[in-house]
Amino acid sequence: MSVIAGVGMAVPEQRVTNADFEARLDTTDAWITERTGIKERRVAADGEKTRDLAVAAGAAALKDAGLTPDDVGLLVLATATPDQALPATAAFVQDELGTRGGAFDLGAACAGFVYGLVVASSMLANLEGSALVIGAETLTRIVDPDDRSTAVLFGDGAGAAVLLPSVDGRGLLAWDMGCDGSAAGLLEIRPGESYLRMDGREVFRRAVRVVVESAEATLRRAGMSASQVDVFVPHQANRRIIDAAASRLGIPEDRTVVNVDRYGNTSAASIPIALAEAAADGRLQDGQLVLLSGFGAGMTWASALIRWGS
Ligand code: UT7
Repeated sequence: MSVIAGVGMAVPEQRVTNADFEARLDTTDAWITERTGIKERRVAADGEKTRDLAVAAGAAALKDAGLTPDDVGLLVLATATPDQALPATAAFVQDELGTRGGAFDLGAACAGFVYGLVVASSMLANLEGSALVIGAETLTRIVDPDDRSTAVLFGDGAGAAVLLPSVDGRGLLAWDMGCDGSAAGLLEIRPGESYLRMDGREVFRRAVRVVVESAEATLRRAGMSASQVDVFVPHQANRRIIDAAASRLGIPEDRTVVNVDRYGNTSAASIPIALAEAAADGRLQDGQLVLLSGFGAGMTWASALIRWGS
């Protein structure tokens, strides 16, 4: 079992507001706000790469944990937007940070960070040192800037967590992971194409269902119920998906972390960014029960229940 010993995040400086889209596309701030809850998102500068955001978030998480790259025995980089096809972006991040041990990319789209958390946690017993799990994306590069139905939804950023073995029962209590490849066509970049295509309405419908089912399965495995969850950190794709899932789970709004208004959907980075913000503003306290749940292209989904603290 593992505990999260530190968290960190990094986002590009450049903000793109709904008003910026209004000026360029057939859309309105009112539509985007009502249908998604998004007000602005961050966009990587020319030349700013997934690896740059990953390195900054990883370094911040290590600092938060009071560790150095030399203490890291495994690096897992969850991303749907690697800098190049070969080698894995994790290799560049390994080099820049100077971590030890293996380093690999993990592709599970928006569920990638939670997938990474589970994978790294399972390997921890056989590692020397800690594991660094990073979710990092430059999603705005795979979104058609002229397609109003997707361009307004996504943003760039990175978040990271440092895992250490648990010594006192705190940490990862239970998890759930799933994939339904028969639904892959709902959200994909087709071979030979540069931009993603999405059946938003169908992804929405399935997203609410899988988040609720996966969260409930995770709670069941830990012998807990949703009423015991202190902080719910869902993937930040759409405010309406978050509200619908939280309401079906019976988790009140004041226990649900929402920052989709400021970052849009940052895929694998969304949950660790939300975690880093919640930790920084004091919402995550020692001993609290924290529920993470993500879903994305594949379709993939994953949840994790954590007793917070290290
Ligand atoms: O991380 C996982 C990845 N993705 C998601 O989680 C996304 C899941 N889906 C969603 O968040 C929502 O389905 C969207 C935000 C993508 C769309 O919201 P919706 O309420 O499902 O709208 P819709 O797709 O049913 O479209 C309603 C209308 C359409 O017009 P018609 O066909 O009714 O005339 C769209 O063309 O809204 C139109 N529309 C827009 N109008 C203004 C689509 N995008 C825009 C836009 N501005 N940006």
